[in-house]
Amino acid sequence: MPDFVIPCLLGLEKLVGDEVKKLGLADVRVENGRVLCHGAAADIARLNVNLRCGARVLLVLGTFRATEFEALFQGVKGIAWEDWIGRDDAFPVAGYSINSTLHSVPACQSIVKKAVCDRLGGKYGLQTLPETGARKQIRFSIMKDEVTIGLDASGEGLYKRGYRAVGVQAPLRETLAAAMVLLTKYRGLDPLCDPFCGSGTIAIEAALIAKNRAPGLNRSFAAQSWTQLDRRIWLDAADEAMDKEFHGEYEIWGGDLDPAAVEIARHNAILAEVDDTVRFAVADATRFHWGGQYGRVVTNPPYGERLMERREAEALYRAFGRAMEKLPETWRVAVLSSHTEFERSFGRAAVKKRKLYNGMIKCDLFFYGKQ
Ligand SMILES: C[S@@+](CC[C@H](N)C(=O)[O-])C[C@H]1O[C@@H](n2cnc3c(N)ncnc32)[C@H](O)[C@@H]1O
Repeated sequence: MPDFVIPCLLGLEKLVGDEVKKLGLADVRVENGRVLCHGAAADIARLNVNLRCGARVLLVLGTFRATEFEALFQGVKGIAWEDWIGRDDAFPVAGYSINSTLHSVPACQSIVKKAVCDRLGGKYGLQTLPETGARKQIRFSIMKDEVTIGLDASGEGLYKRGYRAVGVQAPLRETLAAAMVLLTKYRGLDPLCDPFCGSGTIAIEAALIAKNRAPGLNRSFAAQSWTQLDRRIWLDAADEAMDKEFHGEYEIWGGDLDPAAVEIARHNAILAEVDDTVRFAVADATRFHWGGQYGRVVTNPPYGERLMERREAEALYRAFGRAMEKLPETWRVAVLSSHTEFERSFGRAAVKKRKLYNGMIKCDLFFYGKQ
């Protein structure tokens, strides 16, 4: 039974753990920045196709302790790489080290590479491996001297759903947008609005969640070329996911002041096949209003670091805060911002906060209204 590691953005670990448990995997363990679990070969496809918040899926090939380069070398060389990497395959190595004796990542990277070359060179009877064939990305992590060696089953990060053909400035990672929507406990019942929608990521992820559509149905994964896996696992995973889709009516809206962003959002919604569910419009968030007793606002306004100056951002938060105050108290509002004075500018203290990372930027998701 293979083990898997699913790295994720800091702050999303519990959500990823819940997703993995929902898929029925065993021994799910949530750690800082990653989730570990145990499953069958078919789960390589199921995890890749279904995970909304995980960054990638790694098949674990070895775990051992190493405080010296020799131990790292021998631990890696002891893995049966020939079972996974063919004679001509390319095998780049990437990784990280946290709180460990072996802290130099470039040095560890070259030791891992050397050990794999040594093993495969011996098995294939070659001094130099050509590395002209399929790409098999090796990823290592060293945490408190515990080494985990994995093969990347995803290829491009899972945040790349395949629907964001063209971007706008400062787009949100799809995995983070999905997490924001899930954290508001959205299930597709109430209207969901993003008044600072940019390229539409939050609204599109909300539509995928409302429809219970697996986010990975429109893309391919590195492990699809692994000859060790039965090809049927990918078809089965897609069938299983499609059987679980809902076909209801949903009210999801995104607005942005910038007509070019709205055009891009509409285009992305078409690529994501949710253009029947999401509506986008050119609109000013500071004038946002909506009829109806229940609803959600989930949004990511400019931070004042990347898109506009801090003072401008504060004035915008103030005006947006006034618009939000006019909504019935039954509405749930969740705003992602890295601005340290967000609550003061917005005009109210949040009822709840959740620390999240937008790439390297530390943010809070500020919750308002009935939670
Ligand atoms: C941080 S970006 C949102 C990115 C978006 N979440 C995405 O994934 O692409 C903020 C957006 O707010 C828009 N914006 C700025 N002021 C606005 C206003 N008063 N009303 C509506 N949109 C505004 C900008 O045009 C920009 O697209």
